[in-house]
Amino acid sequence: MAILAKCSACEEPFERLFKFCPNCGLSVVGAGFTDKAGVAVRDLFDIAKTFSAVLDLEVLLQKISATAEKLTQSEASSVMLLDTNKEYLYFKTAGGDKAHAVQTIKIPVQHGIAGWVAKNAQPLLIEDVAKDPRFSAALADDKSGFKTRSIICVPMIFQDEAIGVMEVLNKRRNAPGGKFMQDDLDILQSLAGFAAVSIVNSRLTQDQKNFFANTMEILGAAIETISKNSPGHGWRVAQTSCTIARRLKITGLQYKTIYYASLLHDIGYIGAHKQMIQKSGAISMEKVELTHPSVGADMVSTIRLLSAAGPLIEAHHELWNGSGFPQGLKQESIPLGARIISFVEQIENVRDKAKQANPKITEPEIRAKMEQYASENIDILFDPQVVAAYLVEVSPSLT
Ligand SMILES: [Fe+2]
Ligand SMILES: [Fe+2]
Repeated sequence: MAILAKCSACEEPFERLFKFCPNCGLSVVGAGFTDKAGVAVRDLFDIAKTFSAVLDLEVLLQKISATAEKLTQSEASSVMLLDTNKEYLYFKTAGGDKAHAVQTIKIPVQHGIAGWVAKNAQPLLIEDVAKDPRFSAALADDKSGFKTRSIICVPMIFQDEAIGVMEVLNKRRNAPGGKFMQDDLDILQSLAGFAAVSIVNSRLTQDQKNFFANTMEILGAAIETISKNSPGHGWRVAQTSCTIARRLKITGLQYKTIYYASLLHDIGYIGAHKQMIQKSGAISMEKVELTHPSVGADMVSTIRLLSAAGPLIEAHHELWNGSGFPQGLKQESIPLGARIISFVEQIENVRDKAKQANPKITEPEIRAKMEQYASENIDILFDPQVVAAYLVEVSPSLT
Protein backbone atom coordinates (compact mmCIF):
# COMPACT_ATOMS: atom_id res chain seq x y z
CA MET A 1 0.00 0.00 0.00
CA ALA A 2 1.24 3.46 -0.88
CA ILE A 3 1.39 5.52 2.29
CA LEU A 4 0.65 9.19 1.72
CA ALA A 5 0.24 10.30 5.34
CA LYS A 6 0.68 9.19 8.91
CA CYS A 7 -1.09 10.09 12.08
CA SER A 8 1.30 12.27 14.07
CA ALA A 9 0.13 10.91 17.40
CA CYS A 10 -0.24 7.14 16.96
CA GLU A 11 1.61 6.86 13.62
CA GLU A 12 -1.22 5.02 11.92
CA PRO A 13 -0.41 5.04 8.15
CA PHE A 14 -2.94 6.37 5.62
CA GLU A 15 -3.36 5.81 1.90
CA ARG A 16 -5.26 9.08 1.45
CA LEU A 17 -4.89 12.56 2.86
CA PHE A 18 -7.39 14.13 5.29
CA LYS A 19 -8.70 10.81 6.54
CA PHE A 20 -9.73 10.79 10.20
CA CYS A 21 -7.42 8.66 12.29
CA PRO A 22 -9.26 5.49 13.39
CA ASN A 23 -7.01 5.18 16.47
CA CYS A 24 -6.98 8.58 18.10
CA GLY A 25 -9.74 10.52 16.37
CA LEU A 26 -8.48 14.07 16.25
CA SER A 27 -4.73 13.82 15.60
CA VAL A 28 -2.75 15.37 12.74
CA VAL A 29 -2.73 13.60 9.37
CA GLY A 30 -1.43 14.54 5.95
CA ALA A 31 0.80 17.38 4.86
CA GLY A 32 -0.16 20.46 6.83
CA PHE A 33 -3.78 19.43 7.25
CA THR A 34 -5.37 18.13 10.37
CA ASP A 35 -8.40 16.00 10.89
CA LYS A 36 -9.12 18.41 13.76
CA ALA A 37 -9.50 21.12 11.16
CA GLY A 38 -11.94 18.88 9.26
CA VAL A 39 -14.00 18.31 12.37
CA ALA A 40 -13.82 22.02 13.22
CA VAL A 41 -15.15 23.01 9.80
CA ARG A 42 -18.00 20.52 10.10
CA ASP A 43 -18.88 21.77 13.57
CA LEU A 44 -18.69 25.41 12.51
CA PHE A 45 -21.07 24.68 9.62
CA ASP A 46 -23.32 22.90 12.08
CA ILE A 47 -23.33 25.96 14.37
CA ALA A 48 -23.93 28.26 11.40
CA LYS A 49 -27.03 26.17 10.55
CA THR A 50 -28.16 26.31 14.19
CA PHE A 51 -27.40 30.02 14.26
CA SER A 52 -30.12 30.73 11.72
CA ALA A 53 -32.57 28.21 13.18
CA VAL A 54 -32.25 28.75 16.93
CA LEU A 55 -33.68 31.95 18.31
CA ASP A 56 -33.01 30.95 21.88
CA LEU A 57 -29.68 32.50 22.90
CA GLU A 58 -29.15 30.08 25.81
CA VAL A 59 -29.46 27.05 23.53
CA LEU A 60 -27.12 28.53 20.94
CA LEU A 61 -24.45 29.51 23.48
CA GLN A 62 -24.61 26.08 25.09
CA LYS A 63 -24.06 24.51 21.68
CA ILE A 64 -21.12 26.82 20.93
CA SER A 65 -19.64 26.13 24.36
CA ALA A 66 -20.03 22.36 23.99
CA THR A 67 -18.41 22.52 20.55
CA ALA A 68 -15.47 24.48 22.00
CA GLU A 69 -15.06 21.81 24.66
CA LYS A 70 -15.15 19.02 22.08
CA LEU A 71 -12.84 20.58 19.48
CA THR A 72 -10.21 21.65 21.97
CA GLN A 73 -10.60 18.41 23.96
CA SER A 74 -11.11 20.26 27.21
CA GLU A 75 -12.66 19.24 30.51
CA ALA A 76 -14.84 22.33 30.84
CA SER A 77 -15.90 25.50 29.06
CA SER A 78 -17.81 28.66 29.80
CA VAL A 79 -19.16 31.86 28.32
CA MET A 80 -19.04 34.91 30.60
CA LEU A 81 -20.58 38.30 29.91
CA LEU A 82 -19.64 41.72 31.19
CA ASP A 83 -22.32 43.53 33.18
CA THR A 84 -23.56 46.90 31.87
CA ASN A 85 -20.98 48.86 33.92
CA LYS A 86 -18.20 46.53 32.74
CA GLU A 87 -17.20 45.88 36.35
CA TYR A 88 -18.05 42.20 36.63
CA LEU A 89 -18.12 39.06 34.52
CA TYR A 90 -20.99 36.69 35.14
CA PHE A 91 -21.45 33.17 33.80
CA LYS A 92 -23.92 32.89 30.91
CA THR A 93 -23.25 29.22 30.18
CA ALA A 94 -20.89 26.69 31.68
CA GLY A 95 -20.04 23.13 30.63
CA GLY A 96 -18.22 20.32 32.45
CA ASP A 97 -18.86 18.44 35.69
CA LYS A 98 -18.98 21.50 37.96
CA ALA A 99 -21.06 23.69 35.64
CA HIS A 100 -23.96 24.11 38.07
CA ALA A 101 -21.63 25.39 40.81
CA VAL A 102 -20.35 28.42 38.88
CA GLN A 103 -23.65 29.81 37.57
CA THR A 104 -24.01 32.36 40.38
CA ILE A 105 -20.35 33.43 40.60
CA LYS A 106 -19.42 37.00 39.62
CA ILE A 107 -15.82 37.86 38.76
CA PRO A 108 -14.53 41.46 39.09
CA VAL A 109 -12.66 42.51 35.93
CA GLN A 110 -9.65 43.62 37.99
CA HIS A 111 -9.01 40.02 38.97
CA GLY A 112 -8.23 36.68 37.42
CA ILE A 113 -7.44 35.54 33.92
CA ALA A 114 -10.96 36.08 32.58
CA GLY A 115 -10.96 39.59 34.04
CA TRP A 116 -7.60 40.37 32.39
CA VAL A 117 -8.85 39.09 28.99
CA ALA A 118 -12.08 41.12 29.24
CA LYS A 119 -10.25 44.27 30.31
CA ASN A 120 -7.46 44.06 27.71
CA ALA A 121 -9.55 42.46 24.92
CA GLN A 122 -6.63 40.08 24.28
CA PRO A 123 -6.60 36.26 24.30
CA LEU A 124 -4.51 34.18 26.70
CA LEU A 125 -3.25 30.60 26.46
CA ILE A 126 -1.78 29.48 29.77
CA GLU A 127 -0.34 25.98 30.02
CA ASP A 128 0.11 26.02 33.77
CA VAL A 129 -2.07 28.46 35.71
CA ALA A 130 -0.12 27.80 38.93
CA LYS A 131 2.79 29.74 37.40
CA ASP A 132 0.70 32.73 36.29
CA PRO A 133 0.23 35.49 38.89
CA ARG A 134 -3.06 36.55 37.25
CA PHE A 135 -4.72 33.25 38.17
CA SER A 136 -6.74 33.18 41.37
CA ALA A 137 -8.32 29.91 42.55
CA ALA A 138 -10.44 31.93 44.99
CA LEU A 139 -12.52 33.44 42.16
CA ALA A 140 -14.17 30.27 40.84
CA ASP A 141 -12.24 27.04 41.62
CA ASP A 142 -12.61 27.25 45.41
CA LYS A 143 -16.34 27.86 45.06
CA SER A 144 -17.01 25.22 42.39
CA GLY A 145 -14.57 22.50 43.46
CA PHE A 146 -13.08 22.44 39.93
CA LYS A 147 -9.27 22.37 39.74
CA THR A 148 -7.99 24.47 36.82
CA ARG A 149 -4.63 23.39 35.42
CA SER A 150 -4.53 25.03 32.00
CA ILE A 151 -6.75 27.56 30.22
CA ILE A 152 -7.46 29.32 26.97
CA CYS A 153 -9.52 32.46 27.41
CA VAL A 154 -10.51 34.72 24.49
CA PRO A 155 -12.50 37.94 24.40
CA MET A 156 -15.89 38.15 22.66
CA ILE A 157 -15.64 41.40 20.76
CA PHE A 158 -18.29 43.60 19.17
CA GLN A 159 -17.38 46.93 17.56
CA ASP A 160 -13.86 46.87 19.04
CA GLU A 161 -15.13 46.38 22.59
CA ALA A 162 -15.19 43.21 24.69
CA ILE A 163 -18.71 42.14 25.67
CA GLY A 164 -17.47 39.07 27.53
CA VAL A 165 -15.07 36.14 27.34
CA MET A 166 -15.15 32.51 26.33
CA GLU A 167 -12.83 29.98 27.92
CA VAL A 168 -11.91 26.31 27.87
CA LEU A 169 -10.24 24.68 30.84
CA ASN A 170 -7.82 21.74 31.21
CA LYS A 171 -6.78 19.88 28.08
CA ARG A 172 -8.03 16.34 28.57
CA ARG A 173 -5.23 14.13 29.93
CA ASN A 174 -5.69 11.53 27.16
CA ALA A 175 -5.72 14.16 24.36
CA PRO A 176 -2.92 13.97 21.77
CA GLY A 177 -0.10 16.33 22.71
CA GLY A 178 -1.53 16.70 26.21
CA LYS A 179 -1.53 20.51 26.17
CA PHE A 180 -3.34 23.42 24.56
CA MET A 181 -1.88 24.59 21.23
CA GLN A 182 -2.23 27.67 19.00
CA ASP A 183 -4.85 25.90 16.82
CA ASP A 184 -7.01 25.37 19.95
CA LEU A 185 -6.85 29.12 20.52
CA ASP A 186 -7.73 29.79 16.85
CA ILE A 187 -10.79 27.53 17.08
CA LEU A 188 -11.92 29.19 20.31
CA GLN A 189 -11.57 32.65 18.75
CA SER A 190 -13.74 31.60 15.79
CA LEU A 191 -16.38 30.25 18.15
CA ALA A 192 -16.18 33.39 20.31
CA GLY A 193 -16.96 35.39 17.14
CA PHE A 194 -20.14 33.33 16.61
CA ALA A 195 -21.07 33.76 20.27
CA ALA A 196 -20.51 37.55 20.20
CA VAL A 197 -22.71 38.01 17.11
CA SER A 198 -25.49 35.86 18.54
CA ILE A 199 -25.40 37.74 21.87
CA VAL A 200 -25.53 41.14 20.17
CA ASN A 201 -28.35 40.00 17.83
CA SER A 202 -30.33 38.70 20.77
CA ARG A 203 -29.88 42.01 22.66
CA LEU A 204 -31.00 44.01 19.62
CA THR A 205 -34.09 41.82 19.22
CA GLN A 206 -34.89 42.24 22.92
CA ASP A 207 -34.41 46.03 22.68
CA GLN A 208 -36.79 46.14 19.70
CA LYS A 209 -39.38 44.10 21.59
CA ASN A 210 -39.08 46.38 24.62
CA PHE A 211 -39.33 49.47 22.43
CA PHE A 212 -42.45 48.09 20.72
CA ALA A 213 -44.07 47.13 24.05
CA ASN A 214 -43.29 50.59 25.48
CA THR A 215 -44.70 52.28 22.37
CA MET A 216 -47.90 50.25 22.72
CA GLU A 217 -48.16 51.30 26.38
CA ILE A 218 -47.70 54.97 25.47
CA LEU A 219 -50.36 54.69 22.76
CA GLY A 220 -52.69 52.95 25.22
CA ALA A 221 -52.20 55.81 27.71
CA ALA A 222 -52.78 58.41 24.94
CA ILE A 223 -56.07 56.71 23.96
CA GLU A 224 -57.23 56.80 27.59
CA THR A 225 -56.76 60.58 27.80
CA ILE A 226 -59.39 61.09 25.11
CA SER A 227 -61.63 58.00 25.31
CA LYS A 228 -65.05 58.05 26.99
CA ASN A 229 -64.30 54.74 28.69
CA SER A 230 -63.08 54.12 32.24
CA PRO A 231 -59.35 53.86 33.04
CA GLY A 232 -57.77 50.53 32.03
CA HIS A 233 -60.43 49.88 29.36
CA GLY A 234 -57.89 49.10 26.59
CA TRP A 235 -55.92 46.64 28.75
CA ARG A 236 -59.09 44.91 29.98
CA VAL A 237 -60.38 44.53 26.40
CA ALA A 238 -56.98 43.15 25.33
CA GLN A 239 -56.76 40.74 28.25
CA THR A 240 -60.28 39.34 27.86
CA SER A 241 -60.08 39.22 24.03
CA CYS A 242 -56.80 37.30 24.15
CA THR A 243 -58.15 34.83 26.72
CA ILE A 244 -61.19 34.17 24.51
CA ALA A 245 -58.88 33.81 21.48
CA ARG A 246 -56.75 31.23 23.29
CA ARG A 247 -59.91 29.35 24.29
CA LEU A 248 -60.89 29.31 20.60
CA LYS A 249 -57.43 27.84 19.79
CA ILE A 250 -56.32 30.91 17.85
CA THR A 251 -52.52 30.99 17.63
CA GLY A 252 -49.56 32.55 15.83
CA LEU A 253 -49.95 35.70 13.76
CA GLN A 254 -53.75 35.70 14.07
CA TYR A 255 -53.43 35.70 17.87
CA LYS A 256 -50.83 38.50 17.83
CA THR A 257 -53.05 40.54 15.51
CA ILE A 258 -55.96 40.18 17.96
CA TYR A 259 -53.67 41.33 20.78
CA TYR A 260 -52.52 44.47 18.92
CA ALA A 261 -56.01 45.26 17.61
CA SER A 262 -57.69 44.82 20.99
CA LEU A 263 -55.10 47.00 22.73
CA LEU A 264 -55.43 49.78 20.15
CA HIS A 265 -59.08 49.27 19.13
CA ASP A 266 -60.09 52.80 20.21
CA ILE A 267 -57.03 54.60 18.80
CA GLY A 268 -59.39 56.24 16.28
CA TYR A 269 -60.74 58.51 19.05
CA ILE A 270 -57.46 60.46 18.83
CA GLY A 271 -57.60 60.91 15.04
CA ALA A 272 -61.39 61.52 14.95
CA HIS A 273 -61.13 64.43 17.41
CA LYS A 274 -58.28 65.96 15.41
CA GLN A 275 -60.08 65.57 12.05
CA MET A 276 -63.23 67.21 13.39
CA ILE A 277 -61.43 70.20 14.89
CA GLN A 278 -59.56 70.73 11.61
CA LYS A 279 -62.78 70.52 9.55
CA SER A 280 -65.34 72.42 11.62
CA GLY A 281 -63.60 73.65 14.76
CA ALA A 282 -66.22 71.83 16.85
CA ILE A 283 -66.50 68.28 18.07
CA SER A 284 -69.64 66.18 17.71
CA MET A 285 -69.26 63.27 20.13
CA GLU A 286 -71.81 61.29 18.16
CA LYS A 287 -69.74 61.65 15.00
CA VAL A 288 -66.52 60.78 16.84
CA GLU A 289 -68.19 57.60 18.09
CA LEU A 290 -69.36 56.61 14.59
CA THR A 291 -66.06 57.34 12.84
CA HIS A 292 -63.48 56.13 15.39
CA PRO A 293 -63.29 52.52 14.01
CA SER A 294 -62.49 53.62 10.42
CA VAL A 295 -60.19 56.45 11.51
CA GLY A 296 -58.32 54.00 13.80
CA ALA A 297 -57.93 51.47 10.97
CA ASP A 298 -56.44 54.22 8.77
CA MET A 299 -54.04 55.27 11.51
CA VAL A 300 -52.45 51.80 11.85
CA SER A 301 -52.58 50.85 8.16
CA THR A 302 -49.21 52.40 7.35
CA ILE A 303 -47.39 50.69 10.24
CA ARG A 304 -46.17 47.35 8.89
CA LEU A 305 -46.31 45.52 12.24
CA LEU A 306 -49.85 46.73 12.89
CA SER A 307 -51.35 46.72 9.40
CA ALA A 308 -53.07 43.33 9.90
CA ALA A 309 -54.83 44.80 12.95
CA GLY A 310 -56.52 47.47 10.78
CA PRO A 311 -59.50 45.35 9.57
CA LEU A 312 -60.19 44.22 13.16
CA ILE A 313 -60.08 47.79 14.47
CA GLU A 314 -62.39 48.90 11.64
CA ALA A 315 -64.94 46.19 12.50
CA HIS A 316 -64.76 46.35 16.32
CA HIS A 317 -68.27 47.87 16.57
CA GLU A 318 -69.90 45.52 14.04
CA LEU A 319 -72.51 43.21 15.60
CA TRP A 320 -73.51 39.61 14.77
CA ASN A 321 -77.04 40.58 13.59
CA GLY A 322 -75.83 43.45 11.37
CA SER A 323 -76.96 46.26 13.69
CA GLY A 324 -73.46 47.59 14.32
CA PHE A 325 -71.34 50.19 12.53
CA PRO A 326 -69.64 51.47 10.38
CA GLN A 327 -70.73 48.98 7.68
CA GLY A 328 -73.47 46.93 9.30
CA LEU A 329 -71.62 43.68 8.55
CA LYS A 330 -73.27 40.42 9.62
CA GLN A 331 -72.10 37.14 11.17
CA GLU A 332 -69.08 35.54 9.42
CA SER A 333 -68.56 38.57 7.18
CA ILE A 334 -67.13 40.18 10.35
CA PRO A 335 -63.56 38.93 10.93
CA LEU A 336 -63.42 36.52 13.89
CA GLY A 337 -60.94 38.73 15.76
CA ALA A 338 -63.31 41.69 15.39
CA ARG A 339 -66.25 39.57 16.63
CA ILE A 340 -64.24 38.86 19.79
CA ILE A 341 -63.20 42.49 20.34
CA SER A 342 -66.72 43.77 19.58
CA PHE A 343 -68.18 41.39 22.19
CA VAL A 344 -65.65 42.43 24.83
CA GLU A 345 -66.14 46.12 23.98
CA GLN A 346 -69.90 45.75 24.63
CA ILE A 347 -69.63 43.83 27.88
CA GLU A 348 -67.02 46.34 29.12
CA ASN A 349 -69.61 49.04 28.44
CA VAL A 350 -71.88 47.11 30.80
CA ARG A 351 -69.13 47.40 33.42
CA ASP A 352 -68.76 51.16 32.92
CA LYS A 353 -72.52 51.78 33.08
CA ALA A 354 -72.89 49.63 36.20
CA LYS A 355 -70.11 51.58 37.92
CA GLN A 356 -71.58 54.92 36.90
CA ALA A 357 -74.97 53.89 38.31
CA ASN A 358 -73.47 52.55 41.55
CA PRO A 359 -69.85 53.46 42.36
CA LYS A 360 -69.86 50.99 45.27
CA ILE A 361 -70.81 47.99 43.14
CA THR A 362 -68.55 44.97 43.75
CA GLU A 363 -66.56 43.09 41.09
CA PRO A 364 -68.70 39.89 41.43
CA GLU A 365 -71.85 42.00 40.96
CA ILE A 366 -70.35 43.59 37.83
CA ARG A 367 -69.39 40.13 36.50
CA ALA A 368 -72.94 38.89 37.04
CA LYS A 369 -74.34 41.80 35.02
CA MET A 370 -71.81 41.24 32.21
CA GLU A 371 -72.61 37.51 32.07
CA GLN A 372 -76.33 38.21 32.01
CA TYR A 373 -75.94 40.70 29.15
CA ALA A 374 -73.74 38.25 27.22
CA SER A 375 -76.26 35.40 27.70
CA GLU A 376 -79.24 37.56 26.68
CA ASN A 377 -77.53 38.56 23.43
CA ILE A 378 -76.00 35.26 22.37
CA ASP A 379 -76.63 34.69 18.62
CA ILE A 380 -78.24 38.16 18.47
CA LEU A 381 -75.53 40.77 18.96
CA PHE A 382 -72.69 38.28 19.47
CA ASP A 383 -71.16 35.21 17.84
CA PRO A 384 -72.31 32.18 19.95
CA GLN A 385 -68.83 30.58 20.01
CA VAL A 386 -67.31 33.80 21.39
CA VAL A 387 -69.95 34.12 24.11
CA ALA A 388 -69.61 30.42 24.98
CA ALA A 389 -65.82 30.79 25.36
CA TYR A 390 -66.37 33.76 27.67
CA LEU A 391 -69.08 32.16 29.81
CA VAL A 392 -67.49 28.73 30.09
CA GLU A 393 -63.89 29.67 30.74
CA VAL A 394 -62.99 33.32 30.73
CA SER A 395 -65.44 34.90 33.13
CA PRO A 396 -65.19 32.15 35.81
CA SER A 397 -61.38 32.49 35.75
CA LEU A 398 -61.60 36.24 36.38
CA THR A 399 -63.82 36.08 39.45
FE1 LIG B 1 -64.65 51.49 20.26
FE1 LIG C 1 -63.38 50.44 23.44
